[in-house]
Amino acid sequence: PKINATDRDGTEKVIEAENGLSLMVNLRDNGGLDIASICGGMCSCATCHVYVDPDWMDKIGAQEPDEYELVEFSEHYKENSRLSCQIEMSDDLDGIKVTLAPED
Ligand code: FES
Repeated sequence: PKINATDRDGTEKVIEAENGLSLMVNLRDNGGLDIASICGGMCSCATCHVYVDPDWMDKIGAQEPDEYELVEFSEHYKENSRLSCQIEMSDDLDGIKVTLAPED
């Protein structure tokens, strides 16, 4: 599946993603985007904060309460904010559009 990602500087990239890995790992390792992922994908650092294109929000499903509790404290929080380490890539998400949130 592909990910349409926009980096913090506005650069757009199409990333060939691997299923079964998180969106965060795909953006970082397969897309070369600068995601610190300090917690290693354990939902506790929020450095993998992305904005998901509104058209894709239904497809990725609801977030767990612990993800929401972390991301809502970001000064850059928006309604379509998600932590990309908590989204698993699959063919259902082929073509998903995300934008890296500014660093807090
Ligand atoms: Fe730390 Fe996602 S990588 S919360």
